[in-house]
Amino acid sequence: MARKKIALIGAGNIGGTLAHLAALKGLGDIVLFDVVEGVPQGKALDLSQCGPVEGFDAKITGSNDYADIAGADVIIVTAGVARKPGMSRDDLLGINLKVMKAVGEGIKANAPDAFVICITNPLDAMVWALREFSGLPHNKVVGMAGVLDSARFSHFIAEEFDVSVKDVNTFVLGGHGDTMVPVVQYSTVSGIPVPDLIEQGRSTKERIDAIVARTRSGGGEIVGLLKTGSAYYAPATSGIAMAEAYLYDQKRLLPCAAFVEGKYGLDEGLYVGVPVIIGKDGVEQIVEIKLDDEAKANLQVSVDAVKELLVACKGIDSSLA
Ligand code: APR
Repeated sequence: MARKKIALIGAGNIGGTLAHLAALKGLGDIVLFDVVEGVPQGKALDLSQCGPVEGFDAKITGSNDYADIAGADVIIVTAGVARKPGMSRDDLLGINLKVMKAVGEGIKANAPDAFVICITNPLDAMVWALREFSGLPHNKVVGMAGVLDSARFSHFIAEEFDVSVKDVNTFVLGGHGDTMVPVVQYSTVSGIPVPDLIEQGRSTKERIDAIVARTRSGGGEIVGLLKTGSAYYAPATSGIAMAEAYLYDQKRLLPCAAFVEGKYGLDEGLYVGVPVIIGKDGVEQIVEIKLDDEAKANLQVSVDAVKELLVACKGIDSSLA
């Protein structure tokens, strides 16, 4: 069987880490694309030289030409500007919208059959714009946010209960931003819901509320510490998990930014974080879970925030209106 081809648009911190992980995991040959000349080529050469040590044969190339992504099975998009301290994800909107236009057109012309995972922020708006500009079917364009947000939530929950992360399963819905909705009701340690563990006296509602708040600002906490960029190891790992679900037809149920027309009572046709099943057909299903009133209200706040971003996008680029 021919090797799969993974194209990474954006060869910055996340792009480089994605390439490293994809090579180590043997997902296929890798093309790193960037607008900056030399960066994708340099990173590709450096990464290729891991091969003899790690024992992988993946062909890793760097490029400034969209023609080189032709035939890609999976494309992961991190092109754009990352958040700087004091900048909200939404400040990035204008700059990254233009980048999505170029990337969407590049994908449309060269790799229209790919499964596309968008990571560029502000995520819910950028994945929607990328889908619009690329013209790919909605099930083949998805945003990576929930896997990362729930990984952050799970990390904090494992620390709180002093248990293995392997036994923790948490759920996050809504937009990737300050309005995201970590759902405590569906978060468990080996199947035991967190509210039951609170009842057992293993934690308190106040402590879990603080964890929810920390999860919501999880990206900002890292930006504040790094000062010169935003998180990249966990975002890259999360993107790779989604790529594997598609390449290996794993039918994983993951929280992702998906096109939710008609689901969750939303008719507006927007992208927002919901549980989806990812397999060989991309987003194969959106799973509608029952939400309590608080989670429902929080999801609506999140959806309203995403809608505002879409209005702003349409104001900036009239071809989206
Ligand atoms: N086409 C391709 N690549 C581009 C373009 C473009 N039009 N514009 C910028 N880039 C490249 C930059 O040259 C840079 O190499 O995108 C890369 C972005 O890398 P970093 O600045 O290191 O950012 P990173 O940490 O990888 O995050 C990328 O993901 O999580 C989000 O908020 C984050 O939007 C940001 C994105």
